[in-house]
Amino acid sequence: MNRRISASLLAADFCDLRGELARVSSADLLHFDVMDGHFVPNISFGLPVIEAVSRCTDLPLDVHLMIERPERFLEEFAAVKPEIITVHYEAAVHLQRTLRRIKELGCRAGVSLNPHTPLEGLRYVLEDLDLILIMTVNPGFGGQEFIPAMLEKIGDCRKLIGAAPIELQVDGGVTVENVPVLAAAGATNFVAGSAIFQAENPADYIARMRSA
Ligand code: DX5
Ligand code: ZN
Repeated sequence: MNRRISASLLAADFCDLRGELARVSSADLLHFDVMDGHFVPNISFGLPVIEAVSRCTDLPLDVHLMIERPERFLEEFAAVKPEIITVHYEAAVHLQRTLRRIKELGCRAGVSLNPHTPLEGLRYVLEDLDLILIMTVNPGFGGQEFIPAMLEKIGDCRKLIGAAPIELQVDGGVTVENVPVLAAAGATNFVAGSAIFQAENPADYIARMRSA
């Protein structure tokens, strides 16, 4: 599976989103961190922002819902036509139904796991999954440090996926320096916020992440 880079808008300058979108236009995906102040101890942005940004970019949208009971909002998020909607394993009580619904709505379905959440239950929903997101920090904030123990988890997840056509995404503390070990462990999709947006030349940084 081809390596893909997803630029996380959380680290962008919100006063100049148009300018920021131009800086990251060579990414493969645009990642949106939606936070509700309940599932994670932070509030970010929601639908109006995603909807506005979707009109100003050609990049496919990658929506990461860090919200409780995400099934309540799937129709609204699907209406902005994202490529991917990812929900949290810990927040989706009826996960299989939620993943099915995301696909019915025409999107690819992702599930995200907090660092301490075991992979075990995913075995039973693999058929309904297009992407697994292994959080490599505790979700809620940008700019945190990568948790090294997640390397083993990424390797275990790679084994679980086997030959299934499922992307393995990593998110949190991802930089050009750790992309090689993450890729060697089995990651195929790399979310980065701070590293990309703080780079002097994000296009160059994204190219280096692709070839690292
Ligand atoms: C963390 C978010 C990430 C965040 C990553 O809760 O899910 O997508 O934007 O930020 P960096 O790349 O700065 O760790
Ligand atoms: Zn994210």
